[in-house]
Amino acid sequence: MLTVNGSFPGPVIRVRKGDTIYINIHNQGSYGVTIHWHGVKNPRNPWSDGPEYITQCPIPPGTNFTQEVIFTTEEGTLWWHAHSDWTRATVHGAIVVLPAHGTTYPFPQPDAEEIIVLASWYKHDVMELMRETLSRGGTANLSDAFTINGQPGDLYPCSKETTYRLMVDYGKTYLLRIVNAAQNQDFFFMIAEHNVTVVGGDASYFKPLATPYIMITPGQTMDVLVTADQPLGEYYIVATPYFDGGADDYDHSTATAIFEYRGNYTHPSTPSFPYHIPAYNDTVVASLFTSQIRSLASPEHPVDVPLDVTTRMYLVVTMNLLPCPNDSCAGPDGYRIAAGLNNKTFENPGVDILRAYYWNMSGFYDPNFPDQPLHYFNFTSDDLLSNNVTISDPGTRVKVLNYNDTVEIVFQGTNVMNSAENHPIHLHGYKFYVVGRGQGIFNNETDPKNYNLYDPPELNTIPIPKDGWATIRFKASNPGVWFMHCHFDRHMSWGMETAFIVKSGGTPETSMKGPPAYMPPCDLESFL
Ligand code: C2O
Ligand code: CU
Repeated sequence: MLTVNGSFPGPVIRVRKGDTIYINIHNQGSYGVTIHWHGVKNPRNPWSDGPEYITQCPIPPGTNFTQEVIFTTEEGTLWWHAHSDWTRATVHGAIVVLPAHGTTYPFPQPDAEEIIVLASWYKHDVMELMRETLSRGGTANLSDAFTINGQPGDLYPCSKETTYRLMVDYGKTYLLRIVNAAQNQDFFFMIAEHNVTVVGGDASYFKPLATPYIMITPGQTMDVLVTADQPLGEYYIVATPYFDGGADDYDHSTATAIFEYRGNYTHPSTPSFPYHIPAYNDTVVASLFTSQIRSLASPEHPVDVPLDVTTRMYLVVTMNLLPCPNDSCAGPDGYRIAAGLNNKTFENPGVDILRAYYWNMSGFYDPNFPDQPLHYFNFTSDDLLSNNVTISDPGTRVKVLNYNDTVEIVFQGTNVMNSAENHPIHLHGYKFYVVGRGQGIFNNETDPKNYNLYDPPELNTIPIPKDGWATIRFKASNPGVWFMHCHFDRHMSWGMETAFIVKSGGTPETSMKGPPAYMPPCDLESFL
């Protein structure tokens, strides 16, 4: 597998709030890669954000590239990952952002901290799986195992010696920094017989939420406290799929680790398993968890929700069809599976959008990404195989924002092609407030009346509920080019994304930085 510094998951980066770090990436692999700093706003500096063909071209094998990563308001847990093809499957690691010197956590100091990275693992080369997914769709991309800190655990036919063990002392409290780095899988995460208290996520603090399980979607991080207050013993830590899609095409396996008390007792032959695990398709339980999350909204960690919205977007999230490039596609006759926002399937340009924007190179993107769907239809009904919504329109369309526009986006889930499911939408360069979410079709008259403008969570990745909607708000105060996409890699490959160009505000402090002296080259020759 492709790794960073030989480890899976990759190395942990520890910083303090407000630090700037420089990372020199040497690509010793055999294809181009890029690295992204997931959830770091990196103000005015999209040059170091990383998504291929959005802010840079891939780092060619045998070369290196230095990124400058600027931490500002983030505090908690984030992560870094490859952002080229599907290489992030094994190229990822946690980022710990400690409070600034002289400040502390807004919860009692834990006795110890641990990082828990959830991921997916494949027997096959992920690059081949990606190519297959692009041409076929369907089940080509199933993982062969899930992992907790690199190990699948006792439920797989693997060596039990390597199962990850979290050693704990009775009476102590642990801060677990959980990252969902899986390619395509939401998880329910829990520890047998122990409740956890969620205190943060996506490098923001939450009001403490005690719960027997969490639901975490790819891209998200969650910080939870757990107290070792049960009888001395061994308890399974479980990461099991939450999959609410209609088809049965997902990896059904469950990763485990062990929460093991130190001390003198007879160790059981098998650790305790959770009494109750939500069913893999329990949308009610998953949604209930997500909807309970609130910002801490304390004097030290205030919320600042934009109240006057200048730019409204209503984005319909769909699976789609496009004409098949060869005859091996899994879609209906002559089609392959694609995905889109407002019926637009995003295609990577040959030169990154940031470079094309900065140097005014025309022909690489179209600034007319639609704010509204082209067709209104019964988004969540079961029978949506009509061609004007299933067949999408491919292209590289971006949304241009003025500096400090206040943006509201309603994401509407759909059941186009009978494939309603949760979609974890992630925005680069920003955190946003999730002011509302609900089931069914968004109602423009009534739903905004229930928006939470008081303590909405501030996140960088939001699960759009199956057959439901979610509304986010942010202020476009970070000039640059910023990607927004579904964090299921298969949906991203199928085109469920767009990018924002946020214009500069006219002064040096409100303008994008200039490019670094060196950026990986794009293959410009092929466009001359
Ligand atoms: Cu986790 Cu576009 O990234
Ligand atoms: Cu998706």
